[in-house]
Formats: sequence, C-alpha cells, structure tokens
Amino acid sequence: MCISVFGLGYVGCVTAASLANDGHTVVGAEVNAEKVRQINASASPVGEPGLPKLLASVVQMGRLRATTDIAEAVAASDLAMICVGTPSGPHGRLSLGAVERVARDIGCALCARRETYTVVVRSTVLPGTTERAILPALLDGAGPGAARRVRVAVNPEFMREGSSLRDFAQPPMTLVGCADSETGALVRSLYPSITAPFVQTGIRTAEIVKYACNAFHALKVCFSNEIGDLCDAFDIDPQEVMRIFLMDRKLNVSEAYLRPGFAFGGSCLPKDLRALLGAGRSADLTLPLLSTLLPANDARIRRAVDAVMDTGKRRIGVVGLAFKAGTDDLRESPMVALVEGLIGKGCDVRVLDRGVALPRLVGANQRYIQDQIPHIASLMCDDANEILRHAEVLVIGNAGLDAANVLDAADERHIVLDLTRGQLQSTAKALVTIVA
Ligand SMILES: NC(=O)c1ccc[n+]([C@@H]2O[C@H](COP(=O)([O-])OP(=O)(O)OC[C@H]3O[C@@H](n4cnc5c(N)ncnc54)[C@H](O)[C@@H]3O)[C@@H](O)[C@H]2O)c1
Repeated sequence: MCISVFGLGYVGCVTAASLANDGHTVVGAEVNAEKVRQINASASPVGEPGLPKLLASVVQMGRLRATTDIAEAVAASDLAMICVGTPSGPHGRLSLGAVERVARDIGCALCARRETYTVVVRSTVLPGTTERAILPALLDGAGPGAARRVRVAVNPEFMREGSSLRDFAQPPMTLVGCADSETGALVRSLYPSITAPFVQTGIRTAEIVKYACNAFHALKVCFSNEIGDLCDAFDIDPQEVMRIFLMDRKLNVSEAYLRPGFAFGGSCLPKDLRALLGAGRSADLTLPLLSTLLPANDARIRRAVDAVMDTGKRRIGVVGLAFKAGTDDLRESPMVALVEGLIGKGCDVRVLDRGVALPRLVGANQRYIQDQIPHIASLMCDDANEILRHAEVLVIGNAGLDAANVLDAADERHIVLDLTRGQLQSTAKALVTIVA
C-alpha cells in the first residue's frame, strides 16, 4: 500500500521506516525541513537504537522518502497516518494545535480527490478528539460532500522509546477504533507480519485505552517505588520483594481487581493498608500514592450516597451487604458504610443479602454485627419480593445471585443504580443507571 506518515518525530520515523520495511511504499510529511533533508539523505532525525540502519536501508531501497509538501504526500498515498505531537498545554490540557492543523491540511489536499481516503490517528488524543476535532478539521479542509469519501480510524502506538522498533514489530495488540469493519480490515492489512491479537473497537474506546495503559504504567512505577521505600525502611532488598511479588500471576499481575465496580473493603485490604501507612509514618516516609487509596475508596462510597440522594426518592433497597458476593463477611464492607450513609441522610432503607443470614453468623462476623452495626440487622429482607415491594430505588452492590433475581423482577416503577457498573448482564425492565 502507499502510505503517508505525517510528523516525523519518534513515532512517525519508527512507523514510517517499519512500514516501509514491511513492503509498503511510504512518504513522510514533516514541517521541519531539516528532518526531511536528513531522512532523504538516509540519516535518522531521532536517536533510537536500530533506527539509523533501518531508515537508511528503506530509503536506499526507494521505499521511504520525505517531503514538506503535505498535498504531495496525500496525492502519493492511499492512506494517511497522523503522528504529530500532542504536548501538554497550559494547566496540563492536551494541545491539539498540530493535529488539527495537519488534519485541515490533509483535508485541503483531498478536495479534488474522488476516491475514498482513510486517515489513521496514531497520535495520542483524548476520547472524543477524533470525532469532535480531527474529523471536522479534515472535512472543513476537504469541503462539502467529503464526508462520504473520508474515513477515520484510531490506531494507538504501544511503543517505548529505546525499544520502539521491537515494540512496533511485537506490540501487545493491534488496536483499531473505527466505525465500520471495512476500515478495520484496511488498517489491519498495514501490519501483515504482526501476529499480536487484533482488536477492533469504537473510536473513543481506542482513544482512551491508550491513556488507561499509560496511566497504569505510571501507577506501576510509583507503586513499586513506594514499596521499595518501605522495603528500604525495613532493611529488606526491594528487588527481591518485587521479584517474588511478580511471581503471583493470579492476583498481582492478572485481571484480578481490575474491573470497574464499587469500593473495596473486607477484613484485609483496609486494615493492612492502614498498618503499612502507619509503619511508613514511623519511618518518616512520604507515601503519596499509597496514602491516597483509602480516601479514594471513601470518596467512591460518598458518591454512591450522593447518587441515591440525587434521585429524590427515600425508600431505598440495597442489594448486597457483604464486601463481595458469595461471602458473609461484613467487616469494613463498603456496602455497610453506604447503608449507614443513607440512614444518616434520612432514607428508609431495606437490605437484601441472603449470604448474610444473621442468625447463622458466628465468631468475628457475629461480634461485628452485634457491636458495630446492630441497627442494620433489623433492615434485612428475606427475599427479592420484599425488597421490591419496599423500594423506589434499588442499589445493586455486587454481582451476586440476589442482584440477578432483583434485577430480573424490577420494573418501570423502580430506579436501579448499579454500583457494579454493568458487571451483571440483566434483562431488567427498569431503567438501570450505572453509578461511577
Ligand atoms: N514518543 C513515544 O514513545 C510515543 C509512544 C506512543 C505514542 N506517542 C504519541 O505519538 C505522538 C507523537 O509523539 P512523538 O514523540 O513522535 O512526537 P515528536 O514531537 O517527537 O514528533 C512530532 C513531529 O510532528 C511534526 N509536526 C508538527 N506539526 C506538523 C504538521 N502540521 N505536519 C507535519 N508534521 C508536523 C513535528 O515537527 C515533529 O517532528 C504524540 O501524540 C505522542 O503522545 C508517543
């Protein structure tokens, strides 16, 4: 395929050289004339291991050339890839100047073109940018009637500087956000030698996945640094700790705990976090990331209380009381905190959780209920019908069997607030609102 690559920085150079190496004919377009001159002279404008050699080879084979002329690059290609920078603007806002400018210029170059043309966004942009800023800029340049001929896709790059050629060839996945399968198949055909899973999704989903990945990578760095600080304080080797930590592929490096839903709780996570933070304070450590976890969790509970109050209704049915479905452990359950918050705001609350059969509870659980939440025992319902009769608002706290039964039987009279954020597929006749 003939491909134009706009912006010849790190991403653009690696993309252009790698696509050319895969057999495509590539023309790179760049506003910086010096970068264009360097590429045409077989020199790499960016320092990246392996890139000078690859770039020289594809330029000498005649598969890659560069130009400052955007119209010429569009005319010479069947598809464009936008790789221009999206730096931070004032107050951390994303600066879209370069992407909007290049999109308008590509659009202008498409004015006279009759065939369908696809523009692939490789730059990292916030969700909604492609539909609300890049596509309009393209169509603005291309003129009336262009909407039928111009297609857009988002195809984020998962490479890291320093190993970007290898990352390009072996990405974790090929992710394409687009509106139709024809565009998805076209973008997939750009990468004939990549064996990674191919994922086609919506445009905004593809845009935000890239941010979720980068936010998670940043989180991992700060997390391991703070655990490292604690290890140092206890005179323990942090590298050995993380080596052992990483061996747990069931809970630590896995899908566990990574599904959006409600707050965490139970007898371990809050208690152990408090102990770790206490130990950190005794060692004069500042642990900004770990310190923020309990307040972030509490904020989620407050938001759920606010969402219930915003309905204006006061007869509330809470489904799920234990800290997770299938357990009878109420210690530090965020659902208990939610119920207490609602009672405190004057709501008339009933609770259904048949896993928590109060007379059956023994030991720590029984003591917890007797000592800490005796007032909640009297609010428990025996079955789904009872809570459905009472409630104007149903709050789904976990994705257990009670929740499935209640959701299936709920009707138009009920407002359903789903704290599991869609984890439970239901055939509810009531309108279900996801509470984030
Ligand atoms: N650097 C990385 O490792 C990496 C990895 C994945 C994604 N990204 C994302 O990819 C995008 C590009 O990043 P980068 O590091 O390559 O940026 P960069 O700043 O190195 O390169 C951007 C290039 O675009 C050129 N440019 C600007 N306006 C132009 C226009 N109108 N026409 C043609 N060229 C133009 C600039 O002169 C520059 O050479 C960003 O959105 C970034 O967030 C970067």
